Amino acid sequence: MLKVDISSLRREYANGTLDESSILKNPFEQFQKWLAEALEAQLPEPTAATLATVDNNHPSCRIILLKSVDLKGFVFFTNYNSRKGRSLVNNPYACLNFYWAELERQVRIEGITERITAAESDAYFTSRPVLSRMSAQASPQSEKIKNREQLEELFEQSVKAGSSVRPSHWGGIRVVPNYIEFWQGRPSRLHDRVIFEREDIAQQDWQIARLAP
Ligand SMILES: Cc1cc2nc3c(=O)[nH]c(=O)nc-3n(C[C@H](O)[C@H](O)[C@H](O)COP(=O)(O)O)c2cc1C
Repeated sequence: MLKVDISSLRREYANGTLDESSILKNPFEQFQKWLAEALEAQLPEPTAATLATVDNNHPSCRIILLKSVDLKGFVFFTNYNSRKGRSLVNNPYACLNFYWAELERQVRIEGITERITAAESDAYFTSRPVLSRMSAQASPQSEKIKNREQLEELFEQSVKAGSSVRPSHWGGIRVVPNYIEFWQGRPSRLHDRVIFEREDIAQQDWQIARLAP
């Protein structure tokens, strides 16, 4: 049993403000600004985001690490045969959520996913530490395995084989957004929420609006 009454836990958010007139007009640039501030503040895991997918009306989510962001979208790396990888084949729509608690900020990103090119995945795979490459080769991510020993055997086999080639089932996924929401906590729960929406994901033609908190 919990020793603390969590219903009584409260915190006022008073770190900052967000204004639709002063926010950067391109949401990727605004995101980069906030991510730079999260990095500067030396938050733990500032690139960690929750990735939500929906397969056959069945939502699921998990944490991933953002590895790049530019005007095309938000890229993370994973095993294409994993649960999320398979789910995104059946339904490519996804949502990313970043929460920077110390800055009292949340960013919600919704859009369609696509695989990055094999050459782009190769370039990132090669930049990873050698044992991370081996574990990507070894782990049948999201599959049931017998026990811990089985995983360690698979890893050892990979280390013995000594290949640094990217497995074709491992690579990058880009979320190409049509909706990005920036949330800044404010006192008395009157938070700032500024959203960017666009009709055509091939254009940087974003409409800005404010939502009630
Ligand atoms: C801090 C953190 C970072 C993670 N980064 C990644 C990542 O970048 N890619 C990835 O595939 N899984 C990552 N994971 C593991 C996932 O959360 C998840 O367990 C795994 O991808 C399997 O998810 P799935 O079965 O839904 O496909 C991370 C977990 C944590 C807690």
